[in-house]
Amino acid sequence: MCGIVGYLGHRRALPVLLNGLKRLEYRGYDSAGIAVPTEDGLYIAKRAGTVAQLEALLAGVELPATSGIGHTRWATHGEPLDRNAHPHTDASGRIAIVHNGIIENYSTLKAKLREDGYTFRSDTDTEVLAVFIGALYEQYGDLELAVRTALSEVQGTFGIVILCADQPDTLIAARRGSPIVIGIGDGEYIVASDATAIVEYTRSVFYLTDDEMAIITREGCQTKTIDDIPTSVQLLELEFDLERIEKGGFPHFMLKEIYEQPQTFLDACRGRLLPHEGNVKLGGLRSVEPQLRRARRLILTGCGTSWHAALVGEYWIEELARLPVEVEYASEFRYRNPVLFPEDIVIAISQSGETADTLAAVREAKLRGATVLGIVNVVGSSIARETHAGVYIHAGPEIGVASTKAFTSQLAVLMLLALYLGRMRHLSAAQAQDIAAEIRRLPEKIQYILDHAEHIRQIARQYAQARNFLYLGRGVNFPIALEGALKLKEIAYIHAEGYPAAEMKHGPIALIDENMPVVVIAPRDELYEKVLSNIEEIRARHGQIIAIANEGDTELPHVANHIITIPHTLPLLTPVLTVIPLQLLAYFIAVERGLNVDMPRNLAKSVTVE
Ligand code: G6P
Repeated sequence: MCGIVGYLGHRRALPVLLNGLKRLEYRGYDSAGIAVPTEDGLYIAKRAGTVAQLEALLAGVELPATSGIGHTRWATHGEPLDRNAHPHTDASGRIAIVHNGIIENYSTLKAKLREDGYTFRSDTDTEVLAVFIGALYEQYGDLELAVRTALSEVQGTFGIVILCADQPDTLIAARRGSPIVIGIGDGEYIVASDATAIVEYTRSVFYLTDDEMAIITREGCQTKTIDDIPTSVQLLELEFDLERIEKGGFPHFMLKEIYEQPQTFLDACRGRLLPHEGNVKLGGLRSVEPQLRRARRLILTGCGTSWHAALVGEYWIEELARLPVEVEYASEFRYRNPVLFPEDIVIAISQSGETADTLAAVREAKLRGATVLGIVNVVGSSIARETHAGVYIHAGPEIGVASTKAFTSQLAVLMLLALYLGRMRHLSAAQAQDIAAEIRRLPEKIQYILDHAEHIRQIARQYAQARNFLYLGRGVNFPIALEGALKLKEIAYIHAEGYPAAEMKHGPIALIDENMPVVVIAPRDELYEKVLSNIEEIRARHGQIIAIANEGDTELPHVANHIITIPHTLPLLTPVLTVIPLQLLAYFIAVERGLNVDMPRNLAKSVTVE
């Protein structure tokens, strides 16, 4: 949700912290702050606004400190104001803390601390934790003990890093539910909420597990549970390099990530698709193969764009494996008392692997005895670790808040899964071979759409001031209508609804007039004629039709106001192509409206709170 960075090493901490915050800004961007030790106590600078604004505040400030902590915030408790920005300090001002997550019992703790005479300057739960730790430190005179005691009493979630003026060469980090990753460099440590802040210093990292803490000093890094039981860590090598988290000449990360899709789609399939054998190899699922053979039902769960990928997966798996699939919002699944049978397979789909609701759904499903799998992007993330098995999508870091390349990579893996499950059941090798051969052609077809983006930009110009949009699709393209509408809402702040095309006449048709742009996904498939009838209904009410059509379509140009063409593919695979123009349309409209595409208001890349 928010971004955390901490540094202890031989470099000046301030530039490292600011650099880290810039890398993490996509995770939260309504306020930012840093704390570093000086001879006279902690130097703290924080303010509402962007990291660039914090940097301006610090212009000309030279601090020799080689340790420090920083934070970029996405507000949960308390408005984005200077006083609510992190780091927060205890009553003495000698302990500073940066925190992701939510301290659920903060009001009880706050009331108790108030009774003891403590006062508060912010509206945040984090300050309560800082003051609580400070109070215990005063009592015990031992920082680590104070932190452990406080953390064992708080309820809720946290990823924290603590700096104390009395021990400027120590950082204490801890996690419960909110990721903390620690990079080990040459004589330096970088602590962060995600690896993007670390990769330019070192590739050697480890993740803290829940209720684990790290005490980092110049002599080394010690890990233990918050109950003081020593733990050992598993070092990982980061797979991506700096280039993957820089814009590389694109004006926005989102556009860069849209253009990466021919490559990322290929990467998701690499080594997994065996077109000659008409089969698929998914190494991450080998251990659960017997369960997958026995499975009678799949439940796919996720949030946002990942939930849309699950909806496409439902069509694919039911079609190719003839296995019933249910798709549930993770936030509903976790609280709904779901009926689960021991032979059910639950699959959590998540780009970040950290979404709180999806993680809770994973835990709930495990508790009820289901086999739980993950389709995740971030290696080593909580969902990846807590599921019984899974498949990484290997899309590389996704920085743009609106998910694009992760979506098409999720689709790639879901299609592979559908083939894999299908081959275990009724799907013939010949059918699988045809599909596999076509999957291999998709990257160049995605590229074709990207090469014709200018036409989409022209259309975007005409509709940038529209107040509402309707997106229609049928069958496997219905979820793409939802995804197209979501992209537009997220980054262009235009109200948009996705609908199954045939449902339009049961309500949304009432909204159609000459001011309503309607994006209709109309590839040549078995439902094409039906979609044409839907288009006629829109035309009769003077709606503006933007049709996504196959190349060479001769009918749609007569009925639609604009045509965006996509290459031919198998009808089942069209979502991989139809989504691309919708991503571009939303992007160009947002740019036309002068909006900050990579940091849309009120949104966060990874929602690690409920
Ligand atoms: C947030 C992001 C969305 C994303 C959703 C699920 O809302 O803004 O882009 O689709 O979370 O995230 P996940 O990391 O679980 O896929």
